[in-house]
Amino acid sequence: MLTEILKMLKQDAYTSGEDMAGSLGITRTAVWKYVRALRNKGYQIRSAPRLGYRLEKVPDLLTPEQIQAGLTTEVFGRSIHYFEETTSTQDEARRLAETGADEGTLVVAERQIRGRGRRCRHWVSPPSTGIYLSLILRPELEPLKIAQIPIVVGISVRNTISEVTHLEPQTKWPNDIMFGSKKVAGILVEMRAEPEKIHYIIVGIGINVNTPASFFPYEFRQSAISLHEAAGRPVCRRMLVQGLLSGLEDLYYEYKLTGFEPLRERWRQWDQTVRSWVLIEDASGSFLGYATDIDKDGALIVEDKQGQVRRVSAGDATVRQHATIRTA
Ligand code: BTN
Repeated sequence: MLTEILKMLKQDAYTSGEDMAGSLGITRTAVWKYVRALRNKGYQIRSAPRLGYRLEKVPDLLTPEQIQAGLTTEVFGRSIHYFEETTSTQDEARRLAETGADEGTLVVAERQIRGRGRRCRHWVSPPSTGIYLSLILRPELEPLKIAQIPIVVGISVRNTISEVTHLEPQTKWPNDIMFGSKKVAGILVEMRAEPEKIHYIIVGIGINVNTPASFFPYEFRQSAISLHEAAGRPVCRRMLVQGLLSGLEDLYYEYKLTGFEPLRERWRQWDQTVRSWVLIEDASGSFLGYATDIDKDGALIVEDKQGQVRRVSAGDATVRQHATIRTA
């Protein structure tokens, strides 16, 4: 009901309590109680006798009401589980997926206590400054193709950032969104699968939106950046989440329809890994090589210094700007 009330409130004109009550089939006292609940969440709503209510200021929170008012998706984010604080949205989403939550179910938190990144890294998640969300997917996909998912998601995150900020971030295989050598967003894909079947995928997305540099631990300050810092102004988290859900829903259905190939092309357009020297770190160790391509399953193809072509399906790639230009 709060979402319905929000949809009816306007920023440039008053809406009468009587009209709202009539349209929603509730009493005027109930309207007043919902308005009070919205004020408690940080909405500034002016009321005037005989005129009704007018929305003066919307807080940049990621509550279901905020996200769903103006959301254009059909499936993604139609069910939202919101936490002011949680350990990790990945854990909450996993619990929901295990109990049968639908594809498109979204978990979003204002703050994470134990936000995590790939390879057991910590994801800095201070309150109400970044985006920390997890989305449940249930694709009919061979588990071996799971490396395609961060690519699909990465394109959406990159494009949404670009649409909202008018900046042009790059992507870095397999899951990072970058401004030069500084990371602004990361994607964590976890799943429960059997050899032949994926039960569910949890797509975790973390974006440093308005996070002040001083909030990053000292060791990350050279390698992390926020959108605020990149754009030189605060960026609205709600618009990013709405744009992300709608862009990702479109791309995900396109991917299911047309396959990975056209998206691989799109990723290449923004990728800073391919045709660069990279340091690869994976479970088996590390090596330096020249990344030549992303293959049809989303793996990175790297030629090592001995000339051996290696297919890296999981791991980290750090671009080595200083490596000599390849001539052969
Ligand atoms: C990475 O770059 O290694 C991935 C970072 C993913 C962080 C997000 S924040 C929301 C979700 N919950 C988590 O604990 N992690 C992901």
